Amino acid sequence: RERYQSHVKRGPFAVLSDLDISSFEKILPGRVVTDRDELLYSNTDWLKTVRGESRVLLKPKTTEEVSAIVKYCSDRNLAINPQGGNTGMVGGSVPVFDEVIISTQLMNKVISLDTVSGILVCQSGCILDNLYKHVEEHGLTMPVDLGARGSCHIGGNVATNAGGIHVLRYGSLHGSVLGIEAVLPDGQILDCLSTLRKDNTGYDLKQLFIGSEGTLGIITGVSILCPQQPQAVSVGYLACESFSQILEVFKACRAHLGEVLSAFEFMDSQSLALIKENMNIENPLPEYPFYVLVECSGSNGRHDEEKLMSLLQLVIDDNIAVDGTIATDLTKVKNIWRLREACPEALMFDGYCYKYDISLPLSVFYQLVEDMRARLKDRVIRVVAYGHVGDGNLHLNITAKEYNEETMALIEPFIYDWVAKYRGSVSAEHGLGFKKKNFIYHSKTPTAVALMALIKKTVDPKGIMNPYKLFPDELRT
Ligand code: FAD
Ligand code: MLT
Ligand code: ZN
Repeated sequence: RERYQSHVKRGPFAVLSDLDISSFEKILPGRVVTDRDELLYSNTDWLKTVRGESRVLLKPKTTEEVSAIVKYCSDRNLAINPQGGNTGMVGGSVPVFDEVIISTQLMNKVISLDTVSGILVCQSGCILDNLYKHVEEHGLTMPVDLGARGSCHIGGNVATNAGGIHVLRYGSLHGSVLGIEAVLPDGQILDCLSTLRKDNTGYDLKQLFIGSEGTLGIITGVSILCPQQPQAVSVGYLACESFSQILEVFKACRAHLGEVLSAFEFMDSQSLALIKENMNIENPLPEYPFYVLVECSGSNGRHDEEKLMSLLQLVIDDNIAVDGTIATDLTKVKNIWRLREACPEALMFDGYCYKYDISLPLSVFYQLVEDMRARLKDRVIRVVAYGHVGDGNLHLNITAKEYNEETMALIEPFIYDWVAKYRGSVSAEHGLGFKKKNFIYHSKTPTAVALMALIKKTVDPKGIMNPYKLFPDELRT
């Protein structure tokens, strides 16, 4: 904590008093947490790389309660940290100093589901997996999916503009979120909880909140368009000798699977070694340098399966994949997905994980991983790459027993300079949060960042809403 807190100065905010605690108690009776263990959990991020020292965690149930506590904080000049499922990857979900944590964990009600249009309206603290279960009963599915589905909240997903495994099929949340309700930093309720597909009446304010990482207000409600649930899902798991073969397979999948292609994920051999060594998960194929997971889903299981079978045959015949297997029953499908989804957790067993989430042109996608391995040599335990290659999104992870300043100096800013050279993004889907905020200029122009700062200043003149996050240190108000 000292390591990173020494680089950042606490803002000019008030310090929580006993009177504040009792005032919160009046607004949220029995839902003001000061218990040390519970606070420790909410002060620490999922990756166990950053930890704040908040003394209070608030659990509102309604938008009006959020509004009342935010207004109180604004009047008192207390800084706030909005928190969902606390699965964020960039240190945005936990306080840096003593910010008041406002958690959406009790805001977990579904408000409505229109089964004709597929439009779901819910509170922001609904856990993604629970929403899946809810909409599946009506033949629908959620347009966003990710490994943290059992703990992340839909409000957190929207606040980070989470990507995940189905962006290839359903696009980003900027397209599927139809409306948002949010509490602004002064406590006002902004009701943009529209359920309309089309509404061109002025600026589309909800878009500002998608990916705002808690810096503009607290999202309290979300309206989202749910696609039809696929009748069947099948998965192909293929091995390739080189990364260029992976790209050839991707091209073949786009050409031959067309509308049924729903995910295209890659892992390198180091990812497979990682999950074997740390979680004892076996690779169903022999060892090769690269693997790719191809998911098909649609309205006719047999048809999708046949398409996937002929794709497998084609890529083997054309020598662009060297081995492969197909799964159609649910357990086998889940087992193959487990290979990919176990990677983030497996990394944690090594000790410390330097985590990067990058967008790059596919032509240079894996070159960065090779350059990083050559640079770090045996200073680290491993350099592992997996990700949403179908979206041009690389997850590059470097593990070591513990954090080391010299290793960090070899990784950053090298990695971000490399990404900027190819006009990539320093954060494809995880956001900037606390850890990446000072690299925003590697992916955005000064004019764009200045406009963002102007918006922040207008919406949150006191700068109380998730301070120390997203904006580079010199721009922080
Ligand atoms: P939190 O972690 O609690 O918060 C994240 C950020 O959003 C913080 O800045 C917080 O202040 C803000 N926030 C949270 N709720 C609100 C709210 N109601 N209003 C305003 N701001 C809010 N991410 C991907 O994009 N793709 C993936 O494939 C993916 N896979 C993951 C797999 C695992 C195993 C894990 C642990 C994480 C993964 N993530 C992934 C990262 C993470 O799950 C997402 O960023 C997720 O959207 C965060 O949701 P959350 O509810 O946990 O939010
Ligand atoms: C994933 O795709 O697995 C997540 O974004 C988490 C990670 O990057 O490790
Ligand atoms: Zn991801």
